[in-house]
Amino acid sequence: MSTQRKLRSHDWFGKSDKMGFVHRSWFRTQGYPDDYFTGRPVIGICNTWSELTPCNGHLRDFAEVVKRGVLEAGGFPVEFPVTSLGETVMRPTTMLFRNLASMDVEESIRANPLDGVVLLTGCDKTTPSTLMGACSVDLPTIVVPGGPMLNGRFRGECIGSGSFNWLIKEKQGVENYSPQDIHDVETGVARSQGHCMTMGTASTMACMVESLGLTLPGAAAIPAVDARKKTMAQMSGRRIVEMVREDMKLSHILTRAAFENAIVINSAIGGSTNFIIHLLAIAGRIGVELTLDDLDRFGSKVPLLANLKPSGKYLMEDFYYAGGLPVVIREMHPLLHNDAPTVNGKTIGENNAAAPCYNADVIAPAIRPFQKDAGVAVLKGNLAENGAVIKPSAASPHLLKHRGRAVVFESIEDYHARIDDPGLDIDENCVIVLKGVGPVGYPGMPEVGNVDLPMKLLQKGVRDMIRISDGRMSGTAGGTVILHVSPESAVGGALALVKDGDMIQLDVAARRLHLDIGEEELARRKAQWTPPAPRTTRGYVRFYIDHVQQAHLGADLDRLRGGSGDKVDRDLH
Ligand code: FES
Repeated sequence: MSTQRKLRSHDWFGKSDKMGFVHRSWFRTQGYPDDYFTGRPVIGICNTWSELTPCNGHLRDFAEVVKRGVLEAGGFPVEFPVTSLGETVMRPTTMLFRNLASMDVEESIRANPLDGVVLLTGCDKTTPSTLMGACSVDLPTIVVPGGPMLNGRFRGECIGSGSFNWLIKEKQGVENYSPQDIHDVETGVARSQGHCMTMGTASTMACMVESLGLTLPGAAAIPAVDARKKTMAQMSGRRIVEMVREDMKLSHILTRAAFENAIVINSAIGGSTNFIIHLLAIAGRIGVELTLDDLDRFGSKVPLLANLKPSGKYLMEDFYYAGGLPVVIREMHPLLHNDAPTVNGKTIGENNAAAPCYNADVIAPAIRPFQKDAGVAVLKGNLAENGAVIKPSAASPHLLKHRGRAVVFESIEDYHARIDDPGLDIDENCVIVLKGVGPVGYPGMPEVGNVDLPMKLLQKGVRDMIRISDGRMSGTAGGTVILHVSPESAVGGALALVKDGDMIQLDVAARRLHLDIGEEELARRKAQWTPPAPRTTRGYVRFYIDHVQQAHLGADLDRLRGGSGDKVDRDLH
């Protein structure tokens, strides 16, 4: 890797012609002195800060800290805003906009005089969207995860953000929580800046980028409000300048080995099922061959080491105090490519070889895991020809092999209208089937797969049932939930053909998901099926519907897979 390379930004700021004058002159409105235009690496700080994304609300301050580090190392920091995706407010679902945000990031990086990039991320989709966009340009890039909130507290107990949401129906309807109770939970669970502090999708994404080698070691678990998070951000600012000088591009780090490492680590921490769809999309951008089956192959025989909600007991703050992700990486070293490079110039093995564990109740040693075979199981069968996924560590063991009668909901609205109808013919052995929540059908594949159980069964004490859909599930949720069914119902997958009363077989050990109606009947229904009309005729959403790929490919837009590098073939004139 050269240290004397001509900087990419030189094509803008180093020119002596009219456009060089224009590029420099207008930048000078911000008061930059001459030496900023003469060979300093220009570092773009890609900021997903937004008050509409509360989990990223502190990243404005973080950008200033990153800038300190960039300046100390001799770089020229320039912060730029990109589309931010706030999980808890955006309608109909942030997933609809992940690919849009990635386009914003990609084009913003490529079109501007940047030599390296720092991605400031936090809430669920802000990590994969920015990374997907950055991959399609492939400049030196480092990720600064914004960090989790402090542990939620409610009347002396720890509570996890997100996870309580899935209990509200039960708490109000069965345990008679008062409005004051709910208010106290609401305020106590979100008591600091940061993203959800369960091992939900945001924490999973932070651990994903650390295990891919894209953060400084130990970055993922540091709470957002811990001073050490800012230290990490500052050090990342210093490091990205060196990475530019070393020409250490994303593609140098993001090899097939890095992806396999991330799959193993995700299983060991009990990470979200959303990991699957985002990792596949990221691999598609950087040009690494990765399939849904790889998630099962590398991730399903991995012991669960992290005792974190929703699979376990603790929260991210505890995880950090116990030693954080470096402990898990060290414990998992027999299953990892320890020579995989990381952004600090050392291998993942070197970075984590001496990581001490301070609490074995939070992070177990690999020889005494909390669960033997965790991870994700990829199911196949006539109900999911291209695959579906389940997280066995979050499921009920007695349901992992089951045959049950389908109770079908044609849409999420149909589900809400009928699920608590006292006359609904359903019991705990039934299988709830939800259609129309895939990438094309919803559109945008929302996190609704873990639908609440009928109130009459909750009141009977039932706490889990098999639920099948072409949607996703929040990383903060659990249950025997089969997700990401591909092909989805809206494009004619067999899920579209399921009717009330059909028998469905699930056998997780055999990786089988089967609609037991006979091949002839399946073919007859298929011949009669007609696709639903697209839900919109124009705009980005129509473009999304026309181009989104199925879940087993990562639900990226077909036109966005791969990359176009950092070259812009026409100048500004
Ligand atoms: Fe933003 Fe959970 S809602 S991380």
